[in-house]
Amino acid sequence: MNPANVSPPVTLAKHGDVAVITIDNPPVNVLSHAVRSGLLECLSQAVADADIRAVVIICAGRTFIAGADITEFGKPPQSPSLLEVVATLDDCPKPIFAALHGTALGGGLETALACRYRIGLKTARIGLPEVHLGLIPGAGGTQRLPRVAGLNNALEMITSGRHVGAEEALAMGAIDEVVNGDDLLAAAIDFSRRTLAQGNLRSRTSELELEDSADNQDIVSTWKKRVSKKARGQESPLVALEAISQSIKLPFAEGLLKERELFLGCMGSAQSRALRHIFFAERAAAKLPDSIPNTPTDIKSAAVIGGGTMGRGIAMCFANKNIPVTVVEMQQEQLDLALRAIDKTYAKMSSSGRISEQQHRQRMALISGSCDHSSLARVDVVIEAVFEKLEVKHAIFSSLDKHCKPEAILATNTSYLDIEAIASAVGDPSRVLGMHFFSPAHIMKLLEVVRTGQTSTVAISSMMKLGKILGKRSVLVGNGFGFAANRMYSAYGREGQQMLLEGVTPTQLDQAMKNWGMAMGPAAVLDMSGIDIGYNARKQNPNPPADPSYFRPADLLAEQGYFGRKTGRGFYRYDPTTGKAQEDPEIIELIRAEAQRLNVTPVELPESEIQKRMVGAIATEGEAILTEGIATRASDLDVIWVNGYGFPRWRGGPMHYASEQGD
Ligand code: COA
Repeated sequence: MNPANVSPPVTLAKHGDVAVITIDNPPVNVLSHAVRSGLLECLSQAVADADIRAVVIICAGRTFIAGADITEFGKPPQSPSLLEVVATLDDCPKPIFAALHGTALGGGLETALACRYRIGLKTARIGLPEVHLGLIPGAGGTQRLPRVAGLNNALEMITSGRHVGAEEALAMGAIDEVVNGDDLLAAAIDFSRRTLAQGNLRSRTSELELEDSADNQDIVSTWKKRVSKKARGQESPLVALEAISQSIKLPFAEGLLKERELFLGCMGSAQSRALRHIFFAERAAAKLPDSIPNTPTDIKSAAVIGGGTMGRGIAMCFANKNIPVTVVEMQQEQLDLALRAIDKTYAKMSSSGRISEQQHRQRMALISGSCDHSSLARVDVVIEAVFEKLEVKHAIFSSLDKHCKPEAILATNTSYLDIEAIASAVGDPSRVLGMHFFSPAHIMKLLEVVRTGQTSTVAISSMMKLGKILGKRSVLVGNGFGFAANRMYSAYGREGQQMLLEGVTPTQLDQAMKNWGMAMGPAAVLDMSGIDIGYNARKQNPNPPADPSYFRPADLLAEQGYFGRKTGRGFYRYDPTTGKAQEDPEIIELIRAEAQRLNVTPVELPESEIQKRMVGAIATEGEAILTEGIATRASDLDVIWVNGYGFPRWRGGPMHYASEQGD
């Protein structure tokens, strides 16, 4: 934030008859109290100055105003409020021109919408992302955007929180001109003079009218159906829709009042608290603890050992971010298979329009293949992603030790093996750590960076930085069976397995957790990822619990060769042609018989009890992980669940949820 007593965050400069108000409140020019006051102060000077005919509002640094200051939410409001600021802008007797670059978001866009005109750099993006924080725009956004960009566009943008590029914003009327080149200030002054010269200023946004026509009512009801279907328990998109729908029913001033009422309702909600918590939790997770100096090395090239599903996904992560990567396989045939599979994935992405054909070619050109570790002499980082056998990993790391340059960082993608044991194959174990990606690696946001007691601070800070470059949510954790993520997931899974023994069916278990907000139920997840994977992992746990019921249903299925989807049978039976899951009475009976053998008493569990036990199991394991120092912040564990396991974001993560329940 702007250091006190250095320079005010808002300043005014005269460029002939145009007053330029510059906001400089790093890092992202949020509308703090000082910015709001400064803006009003400068505006009143510009209005009072008879030489001034137009006002430009522009920001210094990397972006136009990125929103209200979220850290002020929940604290006593300080005047002037953002509402007062935008009302003054809207009411200003001299035309105001907002000059946008970077991301004009939330209150930033609302500020711009209260100006008479908006121009933006080609690279500028606009959005009202408040729904992602469990809120709705609270400074006129729900009433102004539909008036400026049309009802349909406003409903789409506000209920989804989507950021829109400058060209698209121009097409929908949200901005008036896209600036080619990068001298935004000159372009804004020029635009303001051209506009003044033309005369006939356009109406203020608050004076534009929207009709309560049958067409507009249809648009609202279509969106209501869409948003209800998509929201899956999240409240704010529907509240936003309710506020926007007022723009066709009520005069502007009354619409604003209704928006305020709905905004305040959201502000006090548990969902908004949870979403604001996870916003800051994700940013905190990316930061190194104070004990680790931030001295990263640049990663300019990488190698991935193993061209299986994980290896392919990890290689794509590098290529997607323009980092050359070598995929290493033992045999040419396997290597060709891996490279072809990557090519096919990119081809699919290109045919569905997610990337261009040119991007497909560029990314493939960054991926090379090799069957020989001697080709890795110059790479900066190696990520090993072969199957989970300590001896195999040992052999690989010992070979990497011989062939890679001494400063190369050697990482393993193991999900649960002891990384210190893997590192013992290397002369200098300080360059070894875990880079635990989640499948599919090129899509899943979560990355566990696993340090051992010996990992160097350079290796840690380099990999945390790399995680950011790769677009991941990286969380730094310690070495220990299952690290933090899989260990917590295992506790969750174990509780579910226990309830299957107590007589809950896989469908009941999955439905309870889906109704709670999880993306998928735990039994369906096991079937999808392969029941054998967990089974084999449990076999390698050096300290398995002495509990005969421990994961018995899953182990029983694995022992019978029922591995889930890939074998057509697991907790569910899968239709061979459609792939549709069906309840499987034989499996339910198999589990029931096993429960009887283990003397587990069947019980009737209501859905709420299933949910409570499942989430409680995660939080309890999380506490143990914190106590043992495997993770340092409870909020890091929330980041893991929200980004790695489909935990509903609007519940803030298991640790936040438990703390809200007073557990
Ligand atoms: N209020 C307070 N702080 C904010 C903020 C806001 N609206 N937006 C960003 N910040 C802070 C971040 O916490 C971070 O602080 P830190 O460096 O101490 O961790 C810093 O600004 C930079 O943000 P970061 O997200 O790391 O930078 P980025 O370049 O990756 O992304 C944005 C920039 C603006 C796109 C992103 O921060 C964002 O989406 N912000 C929220 C925008 C929003 O929701 N606005 C509406 C508010 S109602």
